This record gives sequence, structure tokens and C-alpha cells, in this order.
Amino acid sequence: MLDAGHSIRTRTCGSLAVDDVGSHVTLAGWVDSRRDHGGLIFVDLRDRSGIVQCTFDPAAAEAFETAERLRPEWVVELRGEVCRRPDGTENPEMATGQVEVEISLANVLNTAETPPFEVEDGIDTDETTRMRYRYIDIRRPEMLAALVMRDRITQLFRRALENRSFLEIETPILTKSTPEGARDFIVPSRMNPGRFYALPQSPQLFKQLLMVAGVERYYQMARCFRDEDLRADRQPEFTQVDIEMSFCTQEHVLSLVEEIVAEVMTGAGVEWPERISRVTHAEAMNRWGSDRPDVRFGMELHCLVDVFAASGFKVFADALASGRRIKGLNAKGCGDWSRSRIDALNQIVADAGAEGLAWIAFASTGEIRSPVAKFFSAEEMAGLREKVGAEDGDLVCIVAAEHDLANEALGVLRTHLGQEAGLVQGGFRPMWVVDFPLFEWVEDEQGWSSSHHPFSRPFDEHVELLEDDPGSVLSHSYDLVINGVEVGGGTLRIHDCAVQERVLAVLGIGGQEAREKFGFLLDALTYGAPPHGGIALGFDRLVMLLVGGDSIRDVIAFPKTSSGACPLTGAPDEVSVRQLKDVHLKLE
Ligand code: AMO
Ligand code: AMP
Repeated sequence: MLDAGHSIRTRTCGSLAVDDVGSHVTLAGWVDSRRDHGGLIFVDLRDRSGIVQCTFDPAAAEAFETAERLRPEWVVELRGEVCRRPDGTENPEMATGQVEVEISLANVLNTAETPPFEVEDGIDTDETTRMRYRYIDIRRPEMLAALVMRDRITQLFRRALENRSFLEIETPILTKSTPEGARDFIVPSRMNPGRFYALPQSPQLFKQLLMVAGVERYYQMARCFRDEDLRADRQPEFTQVDIEMSFCTQEHVLSLVEEIVAEVMTGAGVEWPERISRVTHAEAMNRWGSDRPDVRFGMELHCLVDVFAASGFKVFADALASGRRIKGLNAKGCGDWSRSRIDALNQIVADAGAEGLAWIAFASTGEIRSPVAKFFSAEEMAGLREKVGAEDGDLVCIVAAEHDLANEALGVLRTHLGQEAGLVQGGFRPMWVVDFPLFEWVEDEQGWSSSHHPFSRPFDEHVELLEDDPGSVLSHSYDLVINGVEVGGGTLRIHDCAVQERVLAVLGIGGQEAREKFGFLLDALTYGAPPHGGIALGFDRLVMLLVGGDSIRDVIAFPKTSSGACPLTGAPDEVSVRQLKDVHLKLE
């Protein structure tokens, strides 16, 4: 609890209780509201600790006259006596609702313009206005609570990591590109014409260098910068709990991180499982159609190839003949949905790249609606119902497509249906998704990219496949997924220079270019690099989940809009010709 020491007040608003009745206090804070009740004036005074009701009686004339002038958000110093509220006027909704302060002296410390929105929870003011006046927005209890939670989680992480001998070490912000799959923010160098620093997308390479340096256990509450399209769970600058350790296997990293996260989550007062379940990337894709599945509800995907092996339905027969898959899911309780509500699902799978959606709605009356059921034999229908566990009242959705696409399209549909049908339960359901492929094929670029980053270590037994079959190489990698949100990601690292060079070559970063971009890392790997690995937890996302927010903007004091702007400061801003000249730049 905030205390009143070293300030003009003797007590904080939120700390007053029945035990204080009779004591004389000096408070300071903001006028939350003022109510004129004929003879008496009531002012709710707010500071960081909470709100207390203050009363002004005309008998204390000077204070009363001041109270008459007070407006919301004025800053005041108030002196008075803590009294028990008269019987029947207690407010059980308020932490300090048993007491009030009878004011004898009021001093206006500052006046305030009428605020652009109410300082209270649950307002529907547009977010840009809230961001433009963030210093007022943060006065709202829910915003302040998010920042308090953020601070608390920071402290819990620090303590958990310190207790396990991790050293907090800062790494440079002005640096060289560290690829994590986004664009770099770049900073021109005045002293080195034509040269640029990049802001780090993560401290990845520096933490690896610290392992070569013998630090063995490193962490940092690291600010990262990524120039990418923004979404609710993405900001151009964000914070990671960045962790690296030496002489470890994947099992060591997972179990240690599990311990730390459990300590933090229970410290934050939430119910948290002792063990976090693990599934491989391949299994996650097959069962939930996503590498970050929300397992707060079931609705797993089923392979229907056997059911429709001899299907007379042309779409399915053609699919199987050309090696594609047929997969489906059972949307429990959606069988009575209207035609238009079901039809809207077509668009969802289409947006995900699938050609179509076949659906069968089993109404609770026993009636069957479906544009495709007429093509299915009775045996196929029975097989389908059994395979997906469909009862009357359920809706079965089927996609025929190439293997990965069928999973992904149904995965997107599953997430949508889970929310739309209200199947998502409360609480936290974390899981590890492990063993990602080392590479992903990027159609547009006709080349391979890293599923995590280029420094991730392939399975030893797959190293020989690097050049000939990169698509089948698996990596020592793990994502921490909570309630469908990717909260963290990490890998064991390559500590062998030759393997690192080969992986870079698969990514199209050959000899000379590899030297130019990553020579410093390749060198370091030749000077006694220990086996090492680590993880970075998306701190903003974790706090967002803890406060039940929809966006990480809710838990960042001064976030950016979806176009990367700061409505408060006006950043990004123009700069003068002079400044541009200093850094040897000319705008087109
Ligand atoms: P990765 O890129 O997976 O891994 O990032 C780790 C975690 O950071 C969070 N995150 C973000 N949060 C908010 N806004 C963003 N734009 C954003 N981008 C990522 C996610 C993500 O899981 N160096 C590696 C980690 C490692 O290998 O140790 C890395 O940065 O929650
Ligand atoms: P069509 O023969 O294209 O008119 O499609 C007949 C039905 O099959 C429609 O309900 C389509 O939505 C559905 N359909 C088409 N392509 C697919 C597909 N690839 N997977 C699942 N259903 C499909």
C-alpha cells in the first residue's frame, strides 16, 4: 500500500478505515466528484491508493467556500478528522465506505480543465482520445491496476530469476540487425555518414555472446523493436523477459522456465497448474489446426480420410485422388444455427485459403440440414457421426484440402466457433508446443525462412538433411502458449560454427553475406561457445492475460496506435532539414 511518508500528506485516501476514526489527517489528491447536498458538500478525493469521501460543513466557512469552487480533477490538499459515517450512509461498494473525513482546511494545489472523458472504469471513449490524454486515462482505476500488475509481475520475475543465479545484463539498443522476422527500425549515424544502427528486434545475439563470455545465466527485461504490421497483441516496441542459459538441454530450459512462471503466476494470485503439458508442433497442428491452440475448449480436428475413402461426393473423391486430406470438426451445440449464421463460416475458411466448407447441421429435433449430405451414403453419415462424436444439436464442418491448409483453415474456424458458441472457459490453460520445423517455405520468396530465428539448433540426427531436405529438419524449439496466445518462444542454439554457416546458407545467406551480417557471431562460436539455449517471454502479453485485457495496449503506459503513432506526443514527427543534413539524409 502506498504510504504517505515524505509528502505533504499524513495519510493516503485508500488507507483510511474505522480504526482511524477520531484521528486528524492531511490528504492530497484529485477531486473525483463533488456533490452539493443543500447544506453539505461531499467531495470524493482520489489518490493512487483509492478514494475517500470528504464532507464540508458551512461551519468551517473558508473550507466550505473552497469546496464550492472545486471541479473534477482539481488537485487539493485537505485537512480534517476521520469520522464514522452516520448509520445508513455507509457504502459497502467502497473500500473506505465506513468512514468520511470532515474537512476543516482546504487548499487548492492546482485547478484542472474539464477532462475529455470521465475518470472512471468502463468508459467507451475512443482509444485514440484516451491515448492522447494518457495521463488522465491512467487515473482510471482499471488502467492504474494494469500498471500495478505489470510492476508486480516484473518484481516477481526479477526475484524468481535472481534466486536462480541469473544475472540481469543490459544489451545495446543502438546495434546491428538481429533478425526475428520483422523489419528493423533504423537510426542514421551522424559520425559515420551513410551508416545506420538498427534497433534490436530482440537481444538474441548479445545473449548468445554472453554465454560464450561465460555468464552462464542471463536475463533482461528487454525492450524490443519490430517494424511490422500492428495488431492487438503486437506493438512496435514491447518488452520481453529475455532468458539464456548454458550447459542445458531442452528439458532443462523447459523445467526451469516452468518453475519460474509458476512462481510468478501464483505470486500474482492466479490458479496455475503444477505441470505444463507438452505437444509437438505436428500434433498441435493435427489436433487443433494451430501452433498456438486455445485448449480451454475441445472441438479437436478429426481426419476423415477413412470415412470418405470411397466417397461418391466428387469434391472429396477428387481431393483424395490428388493426395489431399479431408478433415473435420464438431461444433458442439451449433446444430440449430440459422442458415445465414452457418453460411458466414464459408468466408472464414475461404479467408484462410480453403476452397470450400462442407457442413452438416444436426438439429436438436433430429432434422438434418446440409448442402452436401445428399452425396453421402448412410454408412458414411454413420461413420462421420461416430468419428467426430456428433449428436443431435451439433454442427459438423469439413474441409478437403492439402494437408497443412486443411489443418490451418479448420484451426481458424475452430477459434472462431469456440468464441462464437461461447465454449471458451475461464482460467489459464498453458501448454508447450515443441519441436517446430527448423524452416518454413515462403511461397512468395520461393525460399526457406526460419520458424524461430536462424540461430536455432536442428536435431543432431537431422543435420545431415540440411541441404537435401530442409523441410523435414526439426529444431529444439518451444513456444509457451496460454489460452491461445503465444506468450513465449525459445530454442536451443547452434554452438557449432560450421552448422551455423550451413543453416544460414539454407536461408540464402551464403559465405560472404553471412560473414558481413553475422561474422561477429560466427567468430564467437569458434572461441569456446558452450551449448546454450533460452527463451523470451512476451511480457506485455502475459500481463494482458493476467488483467483480462483484449489488447497489450491496455497494459502499456504509453502505447502506439495501430498505425504506429503516439497521439500524445505526435511521434513519429518530421525533423528539420538541418537534422537531416547532420545525419547525411535527404528526403525524396
Ligand atoms: P520471439 O520473436 O518469439 O522470440 O518473441 C518472444 C515473444 O515476444 C512476444 N512478442 C511480442 N509482443 C508484443 N509485440 C510484438 N510485436 C511482439 N513480438 C513478439 C511474443 C513472443 O512469444 N529471441 C527470440 C527468443 C529466444 O529464442 O530466446 C525471440 O525474440 O510473446
Ligand atoms: P461445389 O461442387 O463446388 O458446388 O461444392 C459443393 C459443396 O461442397 C458446397 O457446399 C461447397 O461449400 C463444398 N465444398 C467445395 N469445395 C470444398 C472443399 N475443398 N472442402 C470442403 N467442402 C467443399
